[in-house]
Amino acid sequence: MSSSLHILVTGGAGFIGSFIVDALVEKGHRVRVFDCLDPQVHGERDGKAPEYLSRDAEFVLGDVRDVEALDKAMDGIDVVFHEAAAVGVAQSMYAIRAYTEANTMGTANLLELIVNKHRDHVRRMIVASSMSIYGEGRYVDPATNQFVVPAQRTTRQLDSGDWEPRIQGTDRPAQPAPCDEMKPLEPTSIYAINKRDQEEMFLSVGRAYGIPAVALRYFNVYGSRQALSNPYTGVGAIFSSCYLNGRAPRVFEDGLQTRDFIHVTDIARANVLALERSEADYEAINVGTGRPTSVLGLAKMLLAKLHPDRVEDPELQPKIVGRFRAGDIRHCYGDISKARRLMGFEPAVRLEDGIAELIEWVRKQEAKDLSDQALKELSQRRLV
Ligand code: UD1
Repeated sequence: MSSSLHILVTGGAGFIGSFIVDALVEKGHRVRVFDCLDPQVHGERDGKAPEYLSRDAEFVLGDVRDVEALDKAMDGIDVVFHEAAAVGVAQSMYAIRAYTEANTMGTANLLELIVNKHRDHVRRMIVASSMSIYGEGRYVDPATNQFVVPAQRTTRQLDSGDWEPRIQGTDRPAQPAPCDEMKPLEPTSIYAINKRDQEEMFLSVGRAYGIPAVALRYFNVYGSRQALSNPYTGVGAIFSSCYLNGRAPRVFEDGLQTRDFIHVTDIARANVLALERSEADYEAINVGTGRPTSVLGLAKMLLAKLHPDRVEDPELQPKIVGRFRAGDIRHCYGDISKARRLMGFEPAVRLEDGIAELIEWVRKQEAKDLSDQALKELSQRRLV
């Protein structure tokens, strides 16, 4: 790839997109951001880009559902990073149409424009996929150390507070193992189904037209700029805003479910590598840290950083309410050997340091505590 490219980042004003923009600008590329500034994420901004967005990027207000606006934004573009998406796993279970329109149809709009109108200048495209497309991560039978596909957790099982996936036909819990890209995809939410669509659409259209495409399967991304006022935002942002408001966060299940939390700057670096390394062409690649952390463990780390003098305060202990969220999986953390092998990717930010960066930013924000609103909406729909 030539040194300076003209790059479009859809969703480039968002949490992950804006960090990709920073990384691309730093590499000397010319960047155009296309973003609808969804009020659920950005609040009411009157079309004005957020303050954190790089001044060196061109900002275009527009929605991926609007083909005309997208067509204009594609003018003269060499490379597309498609980060625009509605991202709430739980919300996607009732806003099914809205999620599918923004995520799946938005991607259809973009790809149709690329192949029918902009084929002569687009040289590469990279899509934000997600570990959520796996459904449950990999598991092994501890007795044999062989991979097993545990039985899907039933509502009855969860209602009785029995959280761990069991080995089929037994009551023995399966043991989580690093999840590699060969794991069969079993998305358990509309959001995850949309993400699988996005990934497969990019890879199949890319292959058919000979436009190198890469799908990066992000694990749980955290860091500054993630919306604190969006009730459906990620768990790191939700817990931070609770603590900032002097309240204990609510932990679903028993808090021992695990995720692979990766700092947003590591995600941005992986995207730059996916642009530069042709070994990644037409591949779906995990981008995580390879380390599991429990949700309760994350809450405790945040409490220790935000209120070091109150770590034992009963008022701030994470509330384990024993409820569960529809569509949630129990454990998933990444096997990142493919990212290492194909792109030379190595996560650089330790969770402790990443959390410190998140906290520093959280302190400067005015966080409305909206987690009650999310819980109320999900409860009304029996999704908790
Ligand atoms: C997140 C992302 C999704 C991404 C996926 C994979 C968001 C909004 N979703 O989904 O876009 O594709 O990771 O990287 O960022 N939890 C609580 N209390 C709360 C909120 C959550 O205990 O108040 C628990 C959940 O039940 C779940 C875990 O925390 O077990 C993670 O939840 P969340 O941050 O929403 O992430 P994912 O659902 O994994």
